[in-house]
Amino acid sequence: MSRTVYVNGAFLAEEDAKISVFDRGFIFADGIYEVSAVLDGGLVDNEAHLKRLARSLGEIDLPMPMPKEKIVGLQKELIARNRLTEGSIYLQVTRGAADREFHFPADSKPSLVMFTQSREIVNDPKATSGIKLLSVPDIRWERRDIKSVALLAQVLAKQAAVAAGCQEAIMHQEGVVTEGGSSTVFIVTEKGHIVTRPNSHAILPGITRQSVIRLAGEKALAIEERSFTLDEVFAAQECFITSATSFVKPVIEVDGKRIGGGQPGPVARRLRDIYIEAARAEAKASRQAA
Ligand code: PDD
Repeated sequence: MSRTVYVNGAFLAEEDAKISVFDRGFIFADGIYEVSAVLDGGLVDNEAHLKRLARSLGEIDLPMPMPKEKIVGLQKELIARNRLTEGSIYLQVTRGAADREFHFPADSKPSLVMFTQSREIVNDPKATSGIKLLSVPDIRWERRDIKSVALLAQVLAKQAAVAAGCQEAIMHQEGVVTEGGSSTVFIVTEKGHIVTRPNSHAILPGITRQSVIRLAGEKALAIEERSFTLDEVFAAQECFITSATSFVKPVIEVDGKRIGGGQPGPVARRLRDIYIEAARAEAKASRQAA
């Protein structure tokens, strides 16, 4: 069944939606995107995603295409038109169409595109069984804090992972972990400390990461924000990833080596339950807001 998508002011059937071949998103990856989870038909952590969108756009000298409240209205309309109950909503802003010159065009009009994707997040069998990761060198640029649509390095990383029978890549620089192909990585050390890399230009500041850190704090679980190595991952009690499309997902194997007992660990399972509860409350509030 065809989805309804949003393109520059219009809701259209996906086969009728068009973007110019001169769009700078297509030619230069000159654009920013966001992915928010949808649960029970409501938006999860969406305020934080739109705040990060505004920040990323600012870093590439693009304004928000419209006020935040208007974007939320369009997101809700798209969720309703597609009768989406669980999955995600993707949003992309590019510098728009102009003749091909590298520097910013004087008068291009930014493009705004949104579409929904239906998927089971809460009852994802991989969240119960745990996932396998493949380590790959992080070959990306030096501004990974910007949620740029230039994702070729992640496409290659995740393809390598899938080809090796894994579900996600874990990227590293000379053995120091940066993040997952499209997720944040956490470990639980022998001492039971939950460790994740601090935000910097080296990683995307994950929104799910931020919520999980806050929720863990509320439950008096200790979080240490510091860099860690692949060797520490192999020696960890537990490893898990977070993202808008997976929430919290336990990792049971990295590069064919079992992590912890090769089973989803208790900390990851608990944080997943806590996050899902908070996400449901958020989604409900978002549905009830005008
Ligand atoms: N990716 N790091 C990278 C490189 C990512 O692409 C993502 C998310 C994350 C997690 O961020 P968040 O918790 O805000 O989703 C970390 C999205 C889901 C994607 O590209 O589909």
